[in-house]
Amino acid sequence: MKITEIIPGIHYVGVNDRTTTRFEGLWSLPYGVSYNSYLVVDEQVALIDTVEEAFGSRFVENIHEVLGDRTVDYLIVNHMEPDHSSSIRTLRLLYPKMLIVGNAKTLQMLAGFYGITDGTLEVKEGSTIQLGAHSLQFHLAPMVHWPETMVTWCPEAKVLFSGDAFGTFGALNGGITDSQLELDHFWDEMRRYYACIVGKYGAPVQKALQKLGGLPIETICATHGPVWQREIPRVVSMYDRLSRYEGEHGVVIAYGSMYGNTEQLAERIARELAERGVRPIVMHNLTTADMSMVVRDVFKYDTLLVGSPTYNAELFPEVEHLLRKIEARCVPTRNFGFFGSFCWAGAAVRRMKEFAERMKWEPICTPVEMKQGFDARSYDAARTLAEQVAARFNEQ
Ligand code: FEO
Repeated sequence: MKITEIIPGIHYVGVNDRTTTRFEGLWSLPYGVSYNSYLVVDEQVALIDTVEEAFGSRFVENIHEVLGDRTVDYLIVNHMEPDHSSSIRTLRLLYPKMLIVGNAKTLQMLAGFYGITDGTLEVKEGSTIQLGAHSLQFHLAPMVHWPETMVTWCPEAKVLFSGDAFGTFGALNGGITDSQLELDHFWDEMRRYYACIVGKYGAPVQKALQKLGGLPIETICATHGPVWQREIPRVVSMYDRLSRYEGEHGVVIAYGSMYGNTEQLAERIARELAERGVRPIVMHNLTTADMSMVVRDVFKYDTLLVGSPTYNAELFPEVEHLLRKIEARCVPTRNFGFFGSFCWAGAAVRRMKEFAERMKWEPICTPVEMKQGFDARSYDAARTLAEQVAARFNEQ
């Protein structure tokens, strides 16, 4: 068995990226990211997805290591986002007879991104390609998280090539499958990947999960992160919860602060909550926090408290930034509370109330609005807010 072969006839030919600092130009990559691609080698050869083109030469070496002088007969394009499609032009030059397989939307994007209009094969829901002992069957999964998204099922090997679904941030440190890797950090990286990249599309993800639920899947080959085998139940359950926006029991306190007054209020609320047995409590100072970690925790936990000073008669900019991200992801419900401060005319608390109304979130506590400095008067307000939050938290 070759070192690339993850199960008989199926090889991993992806690459690791520990250089890019921001995925999509936005999301930090403290553990790097992998761009996964797979070869199904039979009487005919299919390549499933490609990699970010900056890693194209490593990718081609990986393919050559498996195939030698053989050609690629089919390139299956499950997803056209350029982290997976930007090597297509290079591959077409290397394998000019290779048929590029995608659905109608894929082929339209293939023309738009890369000017490729010939040597393509359009597939529909349920279409099948026979490679020999292996076949590949295509299932459309629109808006997980682009409109052309599909997944590819190999029934003989019981492998699902799932595209971005079940993907995570985090490069692969030597191992490829979940039994070859240290997984501890991947769970939060999966949540962060989901929340930042896919988070808006809970309903389409639910639809895809239901569609694929009947398949006897033994291996999930996603486009990012480990190949899942042993941990499939945990991975599917995590995607199910995330796409239902179901948070674990826990409190996130996210705040902005210019001179420390709102921060002191946040600290006091956290202390009061802890005294009442609330666990876990996660705090983010939005000036220094990594926004992707904050968004991840908003998805991870069921309770969110936000604090903001008034700044230019508006929310503190980083708080506004966070609230916009939550709104864009259509999070349907959270146990929500808010607090703020002002010097001469308050606006932040009003803006957070308006946010709650737009989200249709019923606040679980009376907001605290603090004028000027944090002092003993604020203790009572913080205690009252914390009592209300703790009461709700402990009854759930
Ligand atoms: Fe990994 Fe949606 O691309």
